[in-house]
Amino acid sequence: MSTPEKVPVLTTMYLSLPLLAFLFNFALDFSNAVPQNPRGPRSSVTSCLTSRQVPYSVKGSVNYSSLSTPFNLRLPYQPAVITIPSTLDQVSYSVTCAAAAGLKVQAKGGGHSYASFSIGGQDGSLIIDMQTFSSITVDQSTFVAKIGAGQRLGNVALALYAQGKRALPHGTCPGVGIAGQALHGGYGYGSRSWGLTLDRIVALDVVLANGTQIHTTSTSYPDVFYAMRGAGNSFGIATYLYLSTVPAPTTVLSFSSDFSDSFHQVDIAAKGYAALQNFTLTSPAINSKLGFGVYIDTRGIIGLNGWCIDCSMLNLKNVILPGLISGFPGSKFTIQSYTWSQAVANIAGDPLSQPLGNAYTMHDTFYAKSIATRNSVPLSSAAIKNYLSYFVANEDGIPRIFSIMNLYGGPGSLINTPSPTSSAYSDRDSLWVIQNFARTPNGKPPFDPSLVSLVQGASNAVTSAQPDGMFQGYINYIDPLLTATQAAEQYYGAVTYSKLLGIKTKVDPGFLFWNPQAVGNSMAL
Ligand SMILES: Cc1cc2nc3c(=O)[nH]c(=O)nc-3n(C[C@H](O)[C@H](O)[C@H](O)COP(=O)(O)OP(=O)(O)OC[C@H]3O[C@@H](n4cnc5c(N)ncnc54)[C@H](O)[C@@H]3O)c2cc1C
Ligand SMILES: *[C@@H]1O[C@H](CO)[C@@H](O)[C@H](O)[C@H]1NC(C)=O
Ligand SMILES: *[C@@H]1O[C@H](CO)[C@@H](O)[C@H](O)[C@H]1NC(C)=O
Ligand SMILES: *[C@@H]1O[C@H](CO)[C@@H](O)[C@H](O)[C@H]1NC(C)=O
Repeated sequence: MSTPEKVPVLTTMYLSLPLLAFLFNFALDFSNAVPQNPRGPRSSVTSCLTSRQVPYSVKGSVNYSSLSTPFNLRLPYQPAVITIPSTLDQVSYSVTCAAAAGLKVQAKGGGHSYASFSIGGQDGSLIIDMQTFSSITVDQSTFVAKIGAGQRLGNVALALYAQGKRALPHGTCPGVGIAGQALHGGYGYGSRSWGLTLDRIVALDVVLANGTQIHTTSTSYPDVFYAMRGAGNSFGIATYLYLSTVPAPTTVLSFSSDFSDSFHQVDIAAKGYAALQNFTLTSPAINSKLGFGVYIDTRGIIGLNGWCIDCSMLNLKNVILPGLISGFPGSKFTIQSYTWSQAVANIAGDPLSQPLGNAYTMHDTFYAKSIATRNSVPLSSAAIKNYLSYFVANEDGIPRIFSIMNLYGGPGSLINTPSPTSSAYSDRDSLWVIQNFARTPNGKPPFDPSLVSLVQGASNAVTSAQPDGMFQGYINYIDPLLTATQAAEQYYGAVTYSKLLGIKTKVDPGFLFWNPQAVGNSMAL
């Protein structure tokens, strides 16, 4: 995908000043992309990196293959060069050498991008592998954790607990990177209590497109602070993240319920979902301590899993769970009481302690997309019925697709407390985030392309049945098949995107931090 194709055709009539600047810089970027060095961008970048003593790997280097293999094997790309900096200056030189050679840049944290953006999302980018940035220290007076951008969620959870029994809201899989997740959201069962991982960020150390190293907070480089939280991959390289931790709860009541008996009775199951949604929105028993998701797959499994954090067992057992599942005849539930450490380990699936960088060798082969629904527009009966019918119609034994509908909104949710203008993560009115996901049966390539339309069909089943749904998407479940404009619409919306475009033009006028859906690839919406 070459830059010139992305230069939009526009009449100048409606162009605002920032937009003109944007177009102008875009043209500059195009000329920069033509390598000045006749030996080509790769040799010019490697001589630059060598002169600056930045460790790097290119095709043919010992570790190039493991460094460039993405978590999602469906989308392999070949970076021109991968740097493995161990100092802030080496991060800066990685950025400035790439700019001089006309290469695009992305950071690699945990490497779990659904779209393989952390290996560029295209061939030929410069990747900054953050694996050596691995320290985790909790300040014992403020309880702010300073976390290196190469860390993974499981190690973070262990280290925070070890340093004063602290915790953060974050996702379940221990191998996922803290940086990619925190900069673009970060949902876990603790998020209704404490916000997204992103909402806990109080400061960031960032290397900007001109190589400058800054410490950004709400008052220092506030535009960068705004943009990095929600659109980090388009604005800079975070080296350390500063997150405000919470005291680890004393008990987590972990619950689950299975409604698979209703799978073939779509009318009953649809009423069950509607009752669950209604109870969630209206019952006085629902508060921020509750977090759960409803699961369905094409094998015919339906059920819910969640946590109630420092909750009353009696209230959960006698009021909340019976209310949530009242519409599913004969369904039962189980509740387990855990310590915080046990609860985190229990949902992790894999050991919490995970190797960093290319020593981590887990992979999957998949396609997924998401739908974020509005609190103000709950899922309609028609949308719920269409969604469930779709899974019945595509029933199989594998399962080829599964879907998780996580509760983001509802009464008291901390996810929806921040103002939509406080960060680039501006969706502060979501009720459910539904993720539709298909992987190969053994998690390895080849990927049957028909699975893509199967996943899209599951999303369309919801959206087509509810045209007034005002659906959006969740950028951490990034859909690589969206155009840059669709991505801007679904992940940011017009107001946020136009603000981001203005900041991008100022802090990264050469459009250095790039992936196929980066801010700047689409005009103002
Ligand atoms: C198995 C699995 C389970 C998941 N579970 C959850 C979940 O429970 N909840 C949830 O919310 N999400 C979940 N996700 C989605 C996950 O949050 C995103 O994929 C996230 O972006 C991954 O972060 P990473 O650091 O591992 O990824 P990377 O691929 O390293 O990075 C993702 C993006 O962020 C950019 N980036 C990474 N590091 C930096 C940095 N230091 N500075 C600037 N940009 C950077 C990359 O360039 C890339 O564009 C899951 C994903 C997978 C694969
Ligand atoms: C919605 O739930 C409330 C209790 O939370 C109940 O009083 C009401 O009857 C329910 N409405 C429907 C349509 O089920
Ligand atoms: C290759 O990667 C492994 C695992 O991270 C590391 O131990 C080893 O030192 C690396 N080798 C080189 C030459 O960088
Ligand atoms: C680098 O960019 C930042 C953000 O635009 C700016 O504040 C700073 O002055 C620039 N530094 C240099 C050395 O140009």
